[in-house]
Amino acid sequence: MLGTKKSSNLATEELARLRDELGTLKARLESLEVAASRKPPAINIADVCSIRPPRPLAEPIGTVRELAQKETDIDHFSGIDHEVHLEAFMDRDLQQVPALEDREHYFPGQDLDYWLSGLRDYLRINQELENAGRPLNAGDRLFDFGAASGRVLRHFAAQQPDIDLACADVNENHVEWVSKHLASDAYAFQCTNIPSLPIEDNSFDLVYAFSVFTHMDELETTWLAELRRILRPGGYAYFSVQTEDTWKLLNPDHFLYGHLLYNQANLPDWEIKPELFENPMPSEKVVFRFENSSVYNTCTFQSKAYVKEVWGRFFDIEKILYCGHDFQDVVLMRKPN
Ligand SMILES: C[S@@+](CC[C@H](N)C(=O)[O-])C[C@H]1O[C@@H](n2cnc3c(N)ncnc32)[C@H](O)[C@@H]1O
Repeated sequence: MLGTKKSSNLATEELARLRDELGTLKARLESLEVAASRKPPAINIADVCSIRPPRPLAEPIGTVRELAQKETDIDHFSGIDHEVHLEAFMDRDLQQVPALEDREHYFPGQDLDYWLSGLRDYLRINQELENAGRPLNAGDRLFDFGAASGRVLRHFAAQQPDIDLACADVNENHVEWVSKHLASDAYAFQCTNIPSLPIEDNSFDLVYAFSVFTHMDELETTWLAELRRILRPGGYAYFSVQTEDTWKLLNPDHFLYGHLLYNQANLPDWEIKPELFENPMPSEKVVFRFENSSVYNTCTFQSKAYVKEVWGRFFDIEKILYCGHDFQDVVLMRKPN
């Protein structure tokens, strides 16, 4: 009798243990079923390789004429060799000027200077092409790479409407701005930072890029190859670059020094201090990489020797213009015939 009672107790215990185990297995099964029903997160290439600001465009702030009426400081006009024509340049430009947030925050509180900076670059491009014996003519085609909201392109649209314009930018808002406000049927499209433009080989007489190669690292040479591809043989490339000339200009009063210092927390590899720029560039290519972004996330310096050596593999280098674009040099290059 005693033996039967003992084995019945054991069976009850075993049953309880198995019930526990079954409960645990059921809970585990349920959680695995839930996990299996979840879809893996979709990777959207446009989010990784381009910029889609989560805001609509701001209202543009008026035409250059309207802005000029508000600003009377004639120092604005220094550095323009074409003072006599300035009135005519303004009269021909009836396009709106973008608000600060739609123009890369260029020239805060100095709207007219923003417009003039684009005019200066426009005039200099034409001057350099004329010096090279290949001025732009009606029907020529140009491509503004990293155009933002058309700081330079707007002047081609206003002053030389018989030139065929195209531009691209990784920032969706910029492309929308150009499409909406430029007085031209410029072909504007959003690209990614992967060098692959939807443009046929040998399409353009001129490709220019202001402050774009100054934000590139690994993809720099691939972009050079891609931009060379879309240039016609004999066509010109006009790219701004930060060389040792820019490096020497950086002191605590300089805008770019302030920008790097402001972002110090996102630059773990660097300590931004005056001594850094009092010494020569520590290498032929110097990259300040901002950790808080995946696209358009470096401030890059390339020495003139580096440009001649590396960029010279893609183009014939005609000139490096000292401070050809504000505190940046400009490399004027030609695709061989
Ligand atoms: C400093 S802003 C200069 C804008 C304009 N070129 C100017 O001079 O006013 C750099 C521009 O290049 C764009 N950009 C950066 N990396 C790019 C890339 N890989 N392809 C196309 N655009 C790029 C940015 O979105 C931005 O509009």
